[in-house]
Amino acid sequence: MTKWWKQSVFYEIYMPSFKDGNGDGIGDFAGISSKLDYLKDLGVNGLWLTPFYPSPKVDNGYDIADYYEIDSDYGTMADFEVFIKEAHQRGIRVIADLVLNHTSSAHPWFQESKSSKDHPKRDWYLWRNEPNNWESFFGGSAWEYDETTGQYYYHAFAKEQVDLNWTNPEVKKAMFDVMKFWLEKEVDGFRLDVINFLKVNDSYQDNPYVGEEQTHLYDKDQEGILTTIEEIAAFVHQYPDKFLVGEVGSEDLEILKRYSGLESLDVVFNFNIGSVETFDSERIFRGLVATEEAYREDQIPTLFFSSHDMSRFISRFGGDLDRAKLVAALMLTAKGVPFIYFGDEIGMRDWVTDDINKMKDVQGLMGYKLALESGKTSEEALRVANEKSRDKSRTPMQWDESEFVGFSDVPPWITVPDDALEVNVADQLDDPDSMLSFYKSLLGLRGEHASLQVGDYEFLRYEDGMISFGRTDGIEKVIVLLNFSDVVRVVDGLGENLEFLLSTKRNDLELGEGITVFENEALIIKEVLSR
Ligand code: NOJ
Repeated sequence: MTKWWKQSVFYEIYMPSFKDGNGDGIGDFAGISSKLDYLKDLGVNGLWLTPFYPSPKVDNGYDIADYYEIDSDYGTMADFEVFIKEAHQRGIRVIADLVLNHTSSAHPWFQESKSSKDHPKRDWYLWRNEPNNWESFFGGSAWEYDETTGQYYYHAFAKEQVDLNWTNPEVKKAMFDVMKFWLEKEVDGFRLDVINFLKVNDSYQDNPYVGEEQTHLYDKDQEGILTTIEEIAAFVHQYPDKFLVGEVGSEDLEILKRYSGLESLDVVFNFNIGSVETFDSERIFRGLVATEEAYREDQIPTLFFSSHDMSRFISRFGGDLDRAKLVAALMLTAKGVPFIYFGDEIGMRDWVTDDINKMKDVQGLMGYKLALESGKTSEEALRVANEKSRDKSRTPMQWDESEFVGFSDVPPWITVPDDALEVNVADQLDDPDSMLSFYKSLLGLRGEHASLQVGDYEFLRYEDGMISFGRTDGIEKVIVLLNFSDVVRVVDGLGENLEFLLSTKRNDLELGEGITVFENEALIIKEVLSR
């Protein structure tokens, strides 16, 4: 039987920003539960929730202080249980974001570990007498001096996110217990944060530099990591029907492809496709082809273009709505498991700030601090901070016009058309031409056609700005023509028995030889192979 996740479309919910249910201005479980009908209607069948465990939120929950509770900002365990039950009743599965690589410095494990050199938990984290040159991924040294015992501890991210020592079997056992707890709470799987970071090189050699940039040669993707991940996968997969998606922070397909497959994680995020910085249809196409060529039969790509760590693709790609629809069409019809980022379905835009005091993201704030330290003016430092900050895509879901947060100091790389700023769900629900209605149609189409869920590519082509592919399950073939160019194209030789399915520019089309595809049109048709 086909695994449920192969047929699913996931939707990422950034916990504090999706829906506030108790009026304190912060998203929570009661809020999400109240929007399950919206999500069902949209047509998604999987949710990925960013971390919801108690946390000082230095990095918005990716610094967990208690793995067994719900952060009070998001409600109670009872609220969580109601939410899971209600989601399941609607056929929506839920995966929890789990941070196995590091804990908050406020976690009792770390507090105990740092209390003395002979504490039994000392070895749960990575302590050294001297730092090496490894840099934190948020900037600055990855080592922090701790006065209590006069040693340095390692943190790949903020100093409040302390890396665990996964070579210690007790750490592994503690984390397996955590997974068991949430699996028994009926989560349907996990999104595993920075999972390729669990091991560092025990030689602690300095990382090399290319120019000013450090190459992270010894602090991720180290020997032994695959075995650890296989153990995690085997543990989770003892429970029937559980799904694992790994965040392997790399755009290098050679690295990404190590981490998924039958014995390993079910899928990893394909940053090699999703994180293209500016719009380039040919690069996206090359990413699809390279992935298709590199992956084995048991490996399936993921498709996403936005997340809580990235600029929203609609802003990143220039703000054009037609183009955004084409990208959405690609994401929901190409081969792979799609992950929609909340708000993209209504065309929400990036946000930037002209006031550093309004910035929340640790990466942006760190960028600001380091820029000032390097002699930049506060104006220049703000620009750097806005570039690095992930607040961009973390603004509240715009349910109606009251939720619009406003835009200021829009930097040159973000083009925001005036008429598109104040998008919201309420305005789009009943508008057949809205972005929201388009996403619904696409999701509906995907739900109705097995070839779009599990079909192989029959062809995958690129020509003059048009990506086209056919996907088939042997019974029918769905043909997707995505004309990203400003020129009308005529396509021949697509086969017989063609039927119109969906277009961004028209409601119907007579199909025969020579199919005209308008500029910036997504056109989806099908060929019936056997009746
Ligand atoms: C990846 C998460 O997606 C990101 O938001 C976080 O800052 C880092 N991992 C560190 O946990």
